[in-house]
Amino acid sequence: MQRDVHEPILFEVAWEVANKVGGIYTVIKTKSPVTAEEYGNRYYLIGPLSTKSADLEVERLDIERACEPVKEALYAMREQGINFVYGRWLIEGYPTVILFDVHGTMYRLNEWKKDLWEKAGIPSPTDDFEMNDSIVFGYLVAWFLGECVHRERKAALIAHFHEWLAGVGLVLCRNRGLEICTIFTTHATLLGRYLCAGDADFYNHLKYFDVDVEAGKRGIYHRYCLERAAAHCADVFTTVSHITAFEAENLLKRKPDGVLPNGLNVVKFSAMHEFQNLHAKNKEKIHDFVRGHFYGHFDFDLDNTLYFFSAGRYEFRNKGIDMYLEALARLNNSLKHFNSPMTVVAFIIMPAANNSYTVETLKGQAVTKQLNETVNEIESKIGQRMFHSAVRGHIPDPKDLFSEQDLVLLKRRIFALKRDCLPPIVTHNMKDDSNDPILKEIRRLGLFNHPSDRVKVIFHPEFLNSNNPVLPLDYEDFVRGCHLGVFPSYYEPWGYTPAECTVMGVPSITTNLSGFGCFIEESVENPSDYGLYIIDRRMKSVEDSVQQLTDTMLQFCQKTRRQRIILRNRTERLSDILDWNRMGLEYVKARELALHRKYPELFEDSDDEIDHSVQKIPRPLSTPSSPKLKSTFTTEQLAEQLSNELQELQTKV
Ligand code: UDP
Ligand code: G6P
Ligand code: GLC
Repeated sequence: MQRDVHEPILFEVAWEVANKVGGIYTVIKTKSPVTAEEYGNRYYLIGPLSTKSADLEVERLDIERACEPVKEALYAMREQGINFVYGRWLIEGYPTVILFDVHGTMYRLNEWKKDLWEKAGIPSPTDDFEMNDSIVFGYLVAWFLGECVHRERKAALIAHFHEWLAGVGLVLCRNRGLEICTIFTTHATLLGRYLCAGDADFYNHLKYFDVDVEAGKRGIYHRYCLERAAAHCADVFTTVSHITAFEAENLLKRKPDGVLPNGLNVVKFSAMHEFQNLHAKNKEKIHDFVRGHFYGHFDFDLDNTLYFFSAGRYEFRNKGIDMYLEALARLNNSLKHFNSPMTVVAFIIMPAANNSYTVETLKGQAVTKQLNETVNEIESKIGQRMFHSAVRGHIPDPKDLFSEQDLVLLKRRIFALKRDCLPPIVTHNMKDDSNDPILKEIRRLGLFNHPSDRVKVIFHPEFLNSNNPVLPLDYEDFVRGCHLGVFPSYYEPWGYTPAECTVMGVPSITTNLSGFGCFIEESVENPSDYGLYIIDRRMKSVEDSVQQLTDTMLQFCQKTRRQRIILRNRTERLSDILDWNRMGLEYVKARELALHRKYPELFEDSDDEIDHSVQKIPRPLSTPSSPKLKSTFTTEQLAEQLSNELQELQTKV
């Protein structure tokens, strides 16, 4: 039977479909518009049913609306008692999603574990709940794909699986000989993440690890088997960056066929510099929080305050939080030493087990809010008194405008701002305060928010959202309000956080051990001219990398407001290279390769690899040019760059 390879049906399978955990959610969500545009009704996203997010993010639809093979496959599964949600994910692209009820199907776990062991030799201990979830999810996905492929006789089917948690479905497709083109994209390797989180000299030893032993020592041998099996069973195996490709080759023992770098859904504002206005607007909201947090010790000038932040899943060493804190301590000393007028408020936004906000944190916001209300009341009364006097033709005596009662009220509010302790580091009651790695390091470094400190630290152990009673901002708005994102990762296959800063026009720091950092080094001639600072954690000692990070932050503190505005303009200009319209092409190539490998007879050419050609973005014209600039720029690009530079110069400071 010959299938139509020109209009294939695409299934994309991931644990983070409509289920936010980390960066894979961002990949699937932001890529959806370009893939939905390419595949239309032939695009299906498959994930686990998490009722918490499905209720908020997914519009449930009748399966009658699905295309024939999908509809029939789902009916067949429903008849066998399988529960799922079929609908549209309420995001841009409005893709169709199928979410299988993994927990409601746990009663089949043991049967499927046994089968996985017998058919694929993949073991699974009883107490690894994540592995159990992945097994049930994988069996449901493979069951569904099997039902589809037997019903769809015309179109070719492609199933793209992301990360080991979706790996069981892929292994079963191969094991059952389903006629489906499979792609496996790994967004990290399990072993890599574990080894780096410990104290391994990972990158120097990558070639020499005894992978089975290392996985066994860390209690993840079964997961490792699954990940390795998925990588080897796929028609096409890919990762998100070259650095992770190298890691996968050594740890999973299959060289990836290609790299699919992560993009973003770049939204350009029609009004020029709208993103600069958004920075100012959101910075005001952060100011409000800071006034409350530092009440009683609020002795620094917000006009000379810079907001730095780091954010992501709590992986202390992998995300480079150890290096961030050490560099902040050094920055604090330098700013004090140089008697700098600047204050840096450094945020860490990383979820950790906690019992909600501390009383101190809530009190800080409450007392400043009360003070603000009182001042507004007094202000309005003063206005009325002034008006009443003026309407009768008198210039009021300033003494009469501010009554004794006002003075008493104001004094009471000011007294309420007194506090005996220093402003807190952490905003929440931590479940394990004394053993928390971030807090332990802050204690070791003595970064206690003392009035003399020029670097203040705030640890917010929860992701942000606009319903937050203390810092009511969505993560995106918070990022916009900040001045610099700091992500000195040691292990980071891609690293969305600095990429997201870039498209929002916020300068950031990353490293040459992150996939994104390497991608930028390959694509941009002098990234720091664009407000993207790449710390060398590859060729330098830890001490030298920390110092480079400190110096980069110090130099940033020395910039004038005008320089920061210009830098933000330049940063934002890089966003085009991160757009899925461009990055999505690598996904197209991977799918073509998968079809090609499954049906070689239907293709004329004999290409069996993904071609990645890179063209570097030159330095901005307002910086001294480099020889490369002259040789690589076309006249058109030059004209566009010049017009951008002109707009930059016209920016009002
Ligand atoms: N993120 C978020 N809220 C926060 C902090 C981070 O939603 O308060 C998101 C961020 O936008 C990014 C993702 O978490 O898309 C982290 O992805 P990344 O690739 O940087 O790291 P991962 O967690 O996948 O290792
Ligand atoms: C944006 C706004 C300006 C504001 C500036 C503050 O560019 O459009 O009105 O002055 O932000 O920049 P800063 O780096 O000091 O937060
Ligand atoms: C993983 C990696 C992260 C990457 C994300 C999306 O979670 O840790 O670096 O950005 O996947 O690919």
